[in-house]
Amino acid sequence: MDVVKEIRDFVEAECKKPTSKYGFEPFEFHFAPTVKYVEKLADELKIKDKEPLLIAGWIHDIGSIMRGRSDHHITGAEIAEAKLKELNYPEEKIVLVKKMYS
Ligand SMILES: [Fe+2]
Repeated sequence: MDVVKEIRDFVEAECKKPTSKYGFEPFEFHFAPTVKYVEKLADELKIKDKEPLLIAGWIHDIGSIMRGRSDHHITGAEIAEAKLKELNYPEEKIVLVKKMYS
């Protein structure tokens, strides 16, 4: 299973829902460009395991999308953790993804 793709698809689906607090635009104009830069930086820094970083890039503002802007770093961390657990993503890597919220 490609976890990065699963997370990307999850974020895309949430952005497409009528309940998305910011509509679909952030998917194309915020999440996708963020991931592009994450990938570029990870390559420049020669990061071996880019996976947690790419996941973080896709899911970092999911709290804003699903629950609104206030406390979105807290709601985002909760949503990201729950989704990654559902996908059986390893706990030690979930910790890495969640570091972006702290
Ligand atoms: Fe953001």
